[in-house]
Amino acid sequence: MGEIAKLELDGKVYEFPVIEGTENEKAIDISSLRSATGYITLDLGYKNTGATKSAITYLDGELGILKYRGYSIEDLASKATFIEVAYLLIYGNLPSQEELDNFTSSITKHTLVHEDMKQFFEAYPSKAHPMGVLASMVCSLSTFYPEALDPNRDSESVDITIHRLLAKLPTLAAWSYKNSIRHPFMYPKNEFDYCKNFMYMMFAMPTEDYKIDPVVTEAMNTLLILHADHEQNCSTSTVRMVGSAQTNLYASISAGISALWGPLHGGANQAVLEMLQKIHEDGGDVDKWILKAKDKNDSFRLMGFGHRVYKNFDPRATIIKKACDDVLQKLNINDPLLAIALKLEKVALEDEYFKARSLYPNVDFYSGIIYRALGIPTEMFTVMFAIGRLPGWIAQWKEMRENGDPIGRPRQIFTGETDRKYVEINKR
Ligand code: SDX
Repeated sequence: MGEIAKLELDGKVYEFPVIEGTENEKAIDISSLRSATGYITLDLGYKNTGATKSAITYLDGELGILKYRGYSIEDLASKATFIEVAYLLIYGNLPSQEELDNFTSSITKHTLVHEDMKQFFEAYPSKAHPMGVLASMVCSLSTFYPEALDPNRDSESVDITIHRLLAKLPTLAAWSYKNSIRHPFMYPKNEFDYCKNFMYMMFAMPTEDYKIDPVVTEAMNTLLILHADHEQNCSTSTVRMVGSAQTNLYASISAGISALWGPLHGGANQAVLEMLQKIHEDGGDVDKWILKAKDKNDSFRLMGFGHRVYKNFDPRATIIKKACDDVLQKLNINDPLLAIALKLEKVALEDEYFKARSLYPNVDFYSGIIYRALGIPTEMFTVMFAIGRLPGWIAQWKEMRENGDPIGRPRQIFTGETDRKYVEINKR
């Protein structure tokens, strides 16, 4: 008999089982709470609530540990390719050479987007934010493949949907950018690897040969790996919630893209760059902006700082910060925003307000500076996050479906009016 948690309510003692994960995390299983006691729990923002059991990603916020399927993020970011990591997250193991070759060739075969979808792009205003375009386009993919919509169907049709999404998201992302600058769309090239293909579709022109510095594609590979999954974050929980209704994978991922867009979540990388630019244009007075971030009457927050889980450091930020230095040095870029970011970080880490609240740089704090160095436009930063997070969303959706998790339906505490009678007004 495992550990038991006891709860005393209205003079009665109730017992609930304690469950323990493989990394020794513990939870009180309250599945029987309401039927046994009539009570529910209330936990705004689910800060203390586990929504599922998962074998995909483990993170320890106190120790700054992040592992995908048991492999440390440091190991994967320095040795693996993003496609290998995508396979690992989705199918549970690193692929053999044959599995990797088959996975890669299947993805390569599906990078094209149905020609009819090009008209969708042309209907958007040039100032359309690419996250809005991407969320719509991904959901629209479901209308082109009706035969592969049922998530309960054979694994082959789920697999082909997975490969189509991994293959087409970079194409849709690059075309949303090309459309915003009214440049001609570049079609994917089968001889290019995942990262080079994306950069080609983003920046090549039909009138000239495209050359890309391997430093750029290597940095992109690292960034995509660092963003690939992060257990039950806001957008992943959204994908799981939508998928729990047996909604198809395209629509579930589209919902995840919408959730990621928020500036408190994946939209923070764009917000960090805009914040650094604002501080730079304001004369670079870092102390003034730190004061604003601490002022409760000021809505300004230090974007890229703080995390719901990491309370010491975000291991991804550590890796990205080093990659940032490397890329700027190799590309011989002297970015004044990096100097401001380093100064902001130094001042904040020594400031009692930030230390008392365990606020440290997160994954978004330095990523925008690298994306800028790679030539990615600011409005595409969160799209880069979505491309990286796609395999994680897919893996979590697949696990939720395979585990047969029930449809998500939280409870509430009602605080509204209780008993009001309808009074007829003298309608004219
Ligand atoms: C991502 O969950 C994930 O795993 C997400 C992610 C992933 O990979 O999927 O890691 C990606 O979303 C990273 C986070 C990107 N967001 C930002 O950088 C936006 C800025 N940070 C915050 O808004 C905030 O820190 C959150 C949203 C990240 C976390 O918010 P919490 O856990 O709900 O914490 P909170 O808002 O309750 O803040 C606690 C205190 C508050 O002060 P007090 O009320 O205690 O006085 O800290 C303060 C907040 O005001 N605070 C900040 C701050 N973040 C929190 N004060 C100034 N600047 C900040 N950035």
